[in-house]
Amino acid sequence: MSLQVRQRVSLKAYNSFAVEASARLFAEAHDDDQVRQALAYAAGQGLPVLLLGGGSNLLLTADVEALVLRMASRGIRVIQDDGERVLIEAEAGEPWHPFVQWTLQRGLVGLENLSLIPGTVGAAPMQNIGAYGVELKDVFAGLTALDRRSGELREFTLADCGFAYRDSLFKREAGRWVILRVRFALSRTAPLHLDYGPVRQRLAEQGIDAPTAADVGRAICAIRSEKLPDPALLGNAGSFFKNPLVSAELAQRLRAAHADLVAYPQADGLVKLAAGWLIERAGWKGFREGDAGVHRLQALVLVNYGQASGQQLLALAQRIQADIAQRFAVALEIEPNVL
Ligand code: EPU
Repeated sequence: MSLQVRQRVSLKAYNSFAVEASARLFAEAHDDDQVRQALAYAAGQGLPVLLLGGGSNLLLTADVEALVLRMASRGIRVIQDDGERVLIEAEAGEPWHPFVQWTLQRGLVGLENLSLIPGTVGAAPMQNIGAYGVELKDVFAGLTALDRRSGELREFTLADCGFAYRDSLFKREAGRWVILRVRFALSRTAPLHLDYGPVRQRLAEQGIDAPTAADVGRAICAIRSEKLPDPALLGNAGSFFKNPLVSAELAQRLRAAHADLVAYPQADGLVKLAAGWLIERAGWKGFREGDAGVHRLQALVLVNYGQASGQQLLALAQRIQADIAQRFAVALEIEPNVL
């Protein structure tokens, strides 16, 4: 099928912040061949290509003078099933949460804690999505990507991807790799991860003492829905900042001043702080200026009440960063890609 390229397309419906910005050119790729056609077309026009998945980890601060290529390839398949371990492959354009549900409906264990994360399968490895004690890397079995430098396909193993907290080789080498499909190592019997925050308690409240993966998925959906705004109703990109890693000395000093500081010591001696706690403590939770705000229930989430521009949201983020640096001597790093 040949690629449809449109001019001057509004991206409001294609970014979960629902910020207004237009793409000089816009196309949707349903298969590998259309990805190649789009790359060639953009090169012919002398334009860069911006790859888009669900647009849920993106802040647009201006019109995009590029060919915006939305990955729209679909397909989920079982590659291998030995009765215990099951290898699944999904195309990059598959929406993430319905994909997770597809696996849970088949009794597969592994993705339940990652329920209800916005975005697509192909975007998930970019920032090594994670929630409730599980990260993508824990169930990752490989991916196929197109190398834009050589035009060749390349297979990636877990070790090749350089996954870290909300980070990967694909994020560090932004623009080089087009992730086409991702493989997941799931299981029918693997242990569930119930020890993060409120998961176990939520299951107990529901009277479930021997949960299945699907039960855990439902509990995660309930927990997320209570605190995190639904992008279909209120524009947002999930956590706007990463939880910062600080030295043990700084964590200790902060703890001396704030007994209720939320801090998680890491294996490497650094301490991860809850950015949401820092931002709330600094008084920003529920703050609103124009249509840009800090969510009422989760201080780590910036929201667009309707007409906020990307510039306004970025300006708010920068005010928060400066305030947190001044109060706590902590540098907050922005999580979504700012364009
Ligand atoms: N907290 C506050 N005030 C707030 C928000 C949080 O005091 O406004 C405290 C909480 O009470 C809790 C701690 O901070 O003690 C951690 O909060 P929570 O469990 O809600 O998680 P988080 O650190 O704010 C991270 C991820 C989320 C993920 C959750 C659950 C990052 C940047 N964010 O948030 O991921 O869903 O843990 O695992 O790591 C995302 O990346 O977009 C995202 C939503």
